[in-house]
Amino acid sequence: MGVVLGIESSCDETAAALVADDRTILAQRIASQDEAHAPYGGVVPEIAARAHAERLAPMIAAVLDDAGVALGDLDAVAATAGPGLIGGVMVGLVSAKALAMAGEVPLLAINHLEGHALSPRLADPDLAFPYALLLVSGGHCQVLLVEGVGRYRRLATTIDDALGEAFDKTAKILGLGFPGGPAVERLAREGDRAAVPLPRPLLGSAEPHFSFAGLKSAVLRAHESGRYAPADIAASFQQAAIDCIVDRLTRALDGIAPVRSLVVAGGVAANASVRASLEGFAEARGLAFSAPPPALCTDNAAMIAWAGHERLAAGMEADPLDVSARPRWPL
Ligand code: KG4
Ligand code: ZN
Repeated sequence: MGVVLGIESSCDETAAALVADDRTILAQRIASQDEAHAPYGGVVPEIAARAHAERLAPMIAAVLDDAGVALGDLDAVAATAGPGLIGGVMVGLVSAKALAMAGEVPLLAINHLEGHALSPRLADPDLAFPYALLLVSGGHCQVLLVEGVGRYRRLATTIDDALGEAFDKTAKILGLGFPGGPAVERLAREGDRAAVPLPRPLLGSAEPHFSFAGLKSAVLRAHESGRYAPADIAASFQQAAIDCIVDRLTRALDGIAPVRSLVVAGGVAANASVRASLEGFAEARGLAFSAPPPALCTDNAAMIAWAGHERLAAGMEADPLDVSARPRWPL
């Protein structure tokens, strides 16, 4: 049995996990920094980097201990090397380098987006390449054609905000605190999704891209008007966002050779209404639908370890110990 240690520290979750090549998660720990960032209404990079530096080393020791695995027995150490907040990424990558050197095992510098893109295959052994992927997180909103490990074709992206960002900003406008996505989802359950007229930016446009900035501004105007209940605004926002992604996805998939599966990943994929709508969309088009369990949608280290396994299985080379952290790193 081969085991990869995964490390994630690109935003505000500090995480370490041990994943076996048969997809078993042998051990995993995750520490959110929500409380540290909440007073600022968003992630503060300096606070995030310090928190990663304090927490990561004991966390890695704990997962190795939990699973009874020795450093030298690992097949590889895989760490997010970007894109993300550079201080945090450096903490994780430097830790991985030290461990790889000490254990004399290969180092794998993983693109965080590749971790999200391959995470559905960790949860679903039957999910074969190629598949269409909607990647919706706090920093990214893309449709990708995943042709194989390391072979990603971007079909659509956002021209302004990411979808998770739109959820977070809506939460801020409605005073729901941080992080916003889950709070908006909870409040939306009590609201009427048809109560507030909100725009669907780019709906029907020829290019398959996304835009959410106008939707966010309309949410602000609706709230400031004082005419709508927060729950109705949350529900109407969520519905407008879903209408946009379904329309944009239709357009993105129309331009490519047919695929058999539609997959959703990234933090917003934890949203039950988003998942249900995409499942319906997939069914109507005769596509199999796959979404990782919510805990694998938001940032975690198991997906990074799994991306490491995928790279090893594909015969890809390990990275040199002087590999750099990259704040920007498109797939
Ligand atoms: O993938 P992720 O954990 O981190 C990034 O790589 O960005 O995604 C975090 C984003 C945040 O914007 C958060 O508000 C959103 O995912 N999110 C959700 C839900 N859970 C997390 N958005 C909507 N509904 C949710 N249940
Ligand atoms: Zn992420």
